[in-house]
Parts: sequence; structure tokens; C-alpha cells
Amino acid sequence: MKKTVLLYWAPGGNVEIAARQIYREFGTNELEIADVASFDVNRLSEFENFIFGGATIGADVWTDAKRSNRWNEFFVRAANISIAGKKVALFGLGDQVLYPDHFVDTLGYLKEFVDKKGAQLVGKWPVEGYEFTDSEGVENNMFVGLALDEDQQPELTPSRIETWVKQIRAEFKG
Ligand SMILES: Cc1cc2nc3c(=O)[nH]c(=O)nc-3n(C[C@H](O)[C@H](O)[C@H](O)COP(=O)(O)O)c2cc1C
Repeated sequence: MKKTVLLYWAPGGNVEIAARQIYREFGTNELEIADVASFDVNRLSEFENFIFGGATIGADVWTDAKRSNRWNEFFVRAANISIAGKKVALFGLGDQVLYPDHFVDTLGYLKEFVDKKGAQLVGKWPVEGYEFTDSEGVENNMFVGLALDEDQQPELTPSRIETWVKQIRAEFKG
């Protein structure tokens, strides 16, 4: 049985492309992948490790952004299911030039869920190499997960994913 599941939202764009790159890099025999809207939350207990990913869309109207985000619906569906003590790695897509004050805010939003569930966050990522002014996804000068910018730095995505997947593989085992 696979020990890790990668859940992402939304399908059909940069998030899904990144999710599939992470899936391939991780090794398709070890990882299951699904979009979060079609994933049965009752299956969460089957897994030891999780990778959650999403894009930041419309932080200026953050409440609306949250409402239309299927992650939100997933968090409600998963309210009574425990992932306490399990490990979770996050990745987030954003655009640091157009949204420098809200770069990859979604990482912070996803982390709220991890904290609330008593799960263990892994896969923190350095802020070096990005230019932005503020982000809900940064704590103690580290992103709380992998930040990817397909709009401004697409050429860096493959090597970022490669390095991060090595890191989380080790952290999942440790
Ligand atoms: C309406 C809109 C609002 C956005 N708001 C933000 C934002 O607040 N912060 C950020 O970092 N990126 C923001 N972005 C950039 C997206 O997160 C980025 O383009 C991402 O790669 C899109 O992923 P997708 O193709 O899977 O939707 C926004 C993009 C759009 C279209």
C-alpha cells in the first residue's frame, strides 16, 4: 500500500503541472495523486504522509478566494478525521511580481489546517532566490512549504522540485 498521497487544487493549470512533476520525481510507485475535490476523506487514515498543494488566487478578496477554493471544502469534510502526528509537506504556486504583498499566501492557509490537526509540518523552504515584500506563507524567514512561481521563474521549477522532493523524502522517513 502506498504510504503517501499528494492532493492538489486546482486541476488544469500550473498547480496540476507542478503536482505531476512532484509525483514523477517522488516515484510513482510510492505516491498516490488526486485532486482534492475527488478524494474521499475517509481514506486519509490509510496514509502516513501527505503532500498538499495549491495556488494563491485573489488574496485581495481573500474571503471569496477561500470560499471558492476546494481546499476549504476538504477541510470541512475532514473535520472529524484525525491526521494527528502524521507528516505533511506543502507546495504553493504564486506570482511574486504581480502579487509581491501576498506571494504564495496559500502556503500559510494550508498550514493552518496542518496545525489545527496536530500534524507535523515538513518541507520548509528558504526564501532566498525570490523577491517579494510579504507572504502569509513565511514563518521565521522560511516558506512553510515549497514556493513555485511559474509566471516569473518557470526555469527554476524543475530544480526546486528535485531538491525539495529529496528533502521531504528524507523528512518523511526521519
Ligand atoms: C485572479 C488571480 C489572482 C492571483 N492572486 C495571487 C496572489 O494573491 N498571490 C500570488 O502569489 N499569486 C497570485 N496569483 C498568481 C497565481 O497563483 C499563479 O499564476 C499560479 O501559477 C496559478 O496556478 P493555476 O494555473 O493552477 O491556477 C493570482 C492569479 C490570478 C489569475
